[in-house]
Amino acid sequence: MCGIVGYIGHRPAAEILLRGLERLEYRGYDSAGLAVTDAGTTEVLRSVGKLSALAEALKGHPLTGTLGIGHTRWATHGRPSEENAHPHSAGPVTVVHNGIVENHLALREALEKRGHVFRSETDTEIFSHAIREQIDAGLSLLEATRKVLAGVEGSYAIAVTSTTEPDRIVAAKNASPLIIGLAEGECYLASDVPALLQHTRRVVFMFEGEMAELTRDGYRLMNLAGEPIEREVKQITWTPSQAEKSGHKHFMLKEIYEQPRAMVDTLRGRVSLEHADVHLEDVHMTEAFVKGIERVVISACGTAAHAGLVGKNLIEGAARIPVEVDLASEFRYRDPVVGPNTLFVAVSQSGETADTLAALREAKARGARILSVCNVIDSSIARASDDLIYTHAGPEIGVASTKAFMTQMLALQLLAVWLGRRRGTMPFEATRDRLQALVELPGVVEQQLGCAQQVLALAHKYMNARDFLYLGRGVNFPIALEGALKLKEISYIHAEGYAAGEMKHGPIALIDEAMPVVVLAPQGSHYDKIVSNLQQVKARLGQVIALVTEGNHSLDGMSDDIIELPPVLEALQPFVTTIPLQFLAYYIADLKGTDVDQPRNLAKSVTVE
Ligand code: G6P
Repeated sequence: MCGIVGYIGHRPAAEILLRGLERLEYRGYDSAGLAVTDAGTTEVLRSVGKLSALAEALKGHPLTGTLGIGHTRWATHGRPSEENAHPHSAGPVTVVHNGIVENHLALREALEKRGHVFRSETDTEIFSHAIREQIDAGLSLLEATRKVLAGVEGSYAIAVTSTTEPDRIVAAKNASPLIIGLAEGECYLASDVPALLQHTRRVVFMFEGEMAELTRDGYRLMNLAGEPIEREVKQITWTPSQAEKSGHKHFMLKEIYEQPRAMVDTLRGRVSLEHADVHLEDVHMTEAFVKGIERVVISACGTAAHAGLVGKNLIEGAARIPVEVDLASEFRYRDPVVGPNTLFVAVSQSGETADTLAALREAKARGARILSVCNVIDSSIARASDDLIYTHAGPEIGVASTKAFMTQMLALQLLAVWLGRRRGTMPFEATRDRLQALVELPGVVEQQLGCAQQVLALAHKYMNARDFLYLGRGVNFPIALEGALKLKEISYIHAEGYAAGEMKHGPIALIDEAMPVVVLAPQGSHYDKIVSNLQQVKARLGQVIALVTEGNHSLDGMSDDIIELPPVLEALQPFVTTIPLQFLAYYIADLKGTDVDQPRNLAKSVTVE
């Protein structure tokens, strides 16, 4: 989704804005632009495609000045083009915007009637014209922006400058993220923390319905009524290198390798072997509420929804509560059966996914208690929740989620044990064994990462396949879905994940000698059944890549390729079966030469419906 940066200080703004936008590239974009104000004039430079095109344009047309705003655009209204790229100007006013103005047609029509001439198809342009109108009528930039926002419906984060006040940036936020960075004599603005880290770790998170005025002397925060707001300045502990590739070819590969460390951070301070219990510092449900939970509804999008499906198995197993998993985009438009005895669990890496946030609000309005599993601190979803489990995975830059997924599953496992202990369904000994296994899990995952070279060889072998099928059962069914999603996201190969038992009801028709089928077959309660499915594939000449528990050679004769997995508790198998599937997707995509970290058409943080 779109990314916003802003800078006001004493250094050349253009370079700082461009570097900031590079840190937001992972959000997905199709065009970009900058506006820099100097000596009472604002110059705008925009280009379609990657930021390298904007950097090139900047070489031919340098923008001088120490105040500016920048933007990467992910098209919603109007195709990707230079005219539709941000910033958008009208008279002295220049604006960048992330989000969607729902009533923009009515606003545009009214402005056009009053003589404003629009130059783009975007909803954003209403801001520049409407704010200009108010400035022409004598209001300050801040007051003009505030007045215009009162008539705007929808989601937005905006940054506005005006040559009439060339010493400030005005920003506002409603539903799209915006963060202020503070340094000596400088103020920054960005959609996400990584864009600020090379300059400062002192940040202020803006909340819904807030505005800010940034000057070289600092910032003022206020609500849309203009009343001042005091907010604690947060110190970000992520180092800039945590948001860099540190020697890996892609962020995705770096993030795959970071998984054991990320899992340790998810577990840190939360597991007590001595008391056989889990401590969740931001979960505040009363014992009585926990005992009375009738249903858990997990809602999420994309990879996070797959973590939710794993969570269903874990929570039902540990706490014996019925769990439903619903895609957020479906849940929000149904008439869901949710009430005060429902625990609604939102799972979201970014904490900003529009559908997940809307589903959460729907559940909240119906009286459910809201618990979120989020990675980004203070994100919109985190703030809208009663209870929180932060995954502490660190910044995830690759669009295809890896370490966020792993830590989401782990956080849901902690929740399962926490609920089970309080509902009396997890006895002391069983809990301690489970927790001991969890403490050892990052090490087991580390060991599993050793399969990289073997999977690379398989990637060479299978990279030209047109379709892939992934089969799993029980706890590994969601991993079959996730493996297929990873492959299609980054390699653009069509792939389907299926419950192995369902194969005979459809996908078996697709199987021939050209079809690689990844079969998740570790030892466990589903083993015999999945072996039957594997045989059904082989009987139709499909090429079988089997994931088996190490030392199991009984499938050697029936499989074309075998990847071994260390033995773990059945409930924890998703943590090891995931790894080879991440590598398979990564290496195939890399061999095909696709844009691994920013696959076409995808965005990291999907803040539109
Ligand atoms: C996008 C991302 C996925 C992610 C999904 C949900 O589609 O590309 O990687 O799983 O959104 O995002 P969230 O931030 O809510 O986990």
